[in-house]
Amino acid sequence: MSDESRPSPAQTPVAAVIPAAGRGVRLGPGAPKALRALNGTPMLIHAVRALAASRRVSLVIVVAPSDGTEEVKSLLDAHALPERTDFLVVPGGDTRQESVKRGLDALPPEYGVVLVHDAARPLVPVDTVDAVIEAVGAGAPAVVPALPLADTVKEVEPAAEAGAPEPVVATPERARLRAVQTPQGFDRTTLVRAHETVTDDVTDDASMVEQLGLPVVTVPGHEEAFKVTRPLDLVLAEAVLARRRLNDGF
Ligand code: CTP
Ligand code: MG
Repeated sequence: MSDESRPSPAQTPVAAVIPAAGRGVRLGPGAPKALRALNGTPMLIHAVRALAASRRVSLVIVVAPSDGTEEVKSLLDAHALPERTDFLVVPGGDTRQESVKRGLDALPPEYGVVLVHDAARPLVPVDTVDAVIEAVGAGAPAVVPALPLADTVKEVEPAAEAGAPEPVVATPERARLRAVQTPQGFDRTTLVRAHETVTDDVTDDASMVEQLGLPVVTVPGHEEAFKVTRPLDLVLAEAVLARRRLNDGF
């Protein structure tokens, strides 16, 4: 579909790409991170439900561990998911960036807006998802959920050896810094172009759009959209789920 014939960002169908192909080295030994359970349900299923909970999201593309596509397909079949949402599973690559690219390659032409959401952020509230979609619909080519920082951040000269003292180089003004989360939302053409053009190693998709010289804007993030990275994050995620259950009256 050409850019001209595609509906405006406010009307076009929205797809979500969920990179879930990482091993989860920082979480310690075990199954790939996205397949580990939180209160009995795989993290990936929580993440898929969180995105599919948005009425605007009509397709979810899961980027699975390259040796785990069949397992991921069975997981999606085995868990209740909204009827109105379509699902695709594709194998991931060696880096997050490559995994996202493989998800984008599988995106059908009619989707003009695409969200990229880490499977490792299983508890993002639907209001955050909708806020990102709305900002892309309002015309921003790239949108990231962001939160102010609690910690002061130092730039250091990294030491070669882990644990060795590192000289501090600078202290950026904390009030001007934001920690960014996912889902990050994009005008499809912009994100595809970013992935075709930018080859540097990056840790998020929006920075590729920045490198194209295009504007990226933030919307408020949410503390429950934190990334499950280290073992303590599993404890926090299960505590959040337990609190939700209480609040839902179960
Ligand atoms: N990811 C991916 N493909 C990769 C690497 C990462 O799809 N080759 C995904 C992860 O599955 C995760 C998201 O990118 O949902 C964010 O990455 P991160 O939190 O770093 O997860 P892992 O790479 O799995 O963890 P670690 O870095 O500790 O190994
Ligand atoms: Mg990683």
